[in-house]
Amino acid sequence: MSFFHKLAFVTGGGSGIGRATAKILAREGASVVVADKNTDNILDTLKSIPKHADQEHLGVEIEVSELNSVKDCLKKVLDKYRQPPTIIVNSAGITRDNFLLKLSEQDFDEVLDVNLKGTFLVIQTFANSILAHNLPCASIINIASIVGKYGNLGQANYCASKAGVELLTKTAAKELGKMNIRVNCILPGMISTPMLEAVPDKVKEKFTKMIAMCRFGKPEEVGEVIAFLASEKSSYINGASIEVTGGF
Ligand SMILES: NC(=O)c1ccc[n+]([C@@H]2O[C@H](COP(=O)([O-])OP(=O)(O)OC[C@H]3O[C@@H](n4cnc5c(N)ncnc54)[C@H](O)[C@@H]3O)[C@@H](O)[C@H]2O)c1
Repeated sequence: MSFFHKLAFVTGGGSGIGRATAKILAREGASVVVADKNTDNILDTLKSIPKHADQEHLGVEIEVSELNSVKDCLKKVLDKYRQPPTIIVNSAGITRDNFLLKLSEQDFDEVLDVNLKGTFLVIQTFANSILAHNLPCASIINIASIVGKYGNLGQANYCASKAGVELLTKTAAKELGKMNIRVNCILPGMISTPMLEAVPDKVKEKFTKMIAMCRFGKPEEVGEVIAFLASEKSSYINGASIEVTGGF
């Protein structure tokens, strides 16, 4: 897998799966734009990713749920690199868990805005720029979730947002495929990242028993699959949802 001279853009690149992905894409030769709403985390990621002489990484603050912020971010990328990235990873995501009967309207909206609308805004803004620059091909990878397929107690907002990301992916793949922009998504299971810190130990134990491999995944185990989907090795995969769950 070589991303020599390729530019990658990773939202949520300041933590967890996004950070691991940024490291792996950089290891494979890409210049990486680490986009996140948390600036301290962006700096930590930038410090930790591999960099050879021909690579130029960049950190950019972004609020994925706001169109102006996404457009601003693209502008910063274009100012520096003169062209948009051709690898785009939508990993920014949040949870606001509560049982359906108690879930506030604000927590419902916030999760849908970041996870689903944010993914839409990034795809639309960056794909338009890729087409405007006549770039020959690109790969967009969205992070949905296995719970978007089956549902999960206390996560009505999150599951709905991730089911939306999966079908947004399939529709984007149908519309953009003829322009040689592939769009795929990953459905991770339980992956050890800061996002899981809010999950009570009892629930974690229950989930571990439901995983064939009897353990949670590492963010790198998702990042490697993202790198495959970003590469030419997956040149005929489009509109796919790939489960990375250890067997759930
Ligand atoms: N960890 C898991 O078990 C798991 C399972 C399935 C899916 N996922 C999904 O994987 C993705 C990455 O999750 P993670 O586990 O690495 O979580 P994480 O909390 O470690 O990282 C998420 C990152 O997204 C950033 N972010 C949050 N809201 C943002 C916004 N509005 N604009 C820009 N950046 C924002 C955060 O600052 C953070 O750096 C998420 O979409 C998550 O829903 C995670």
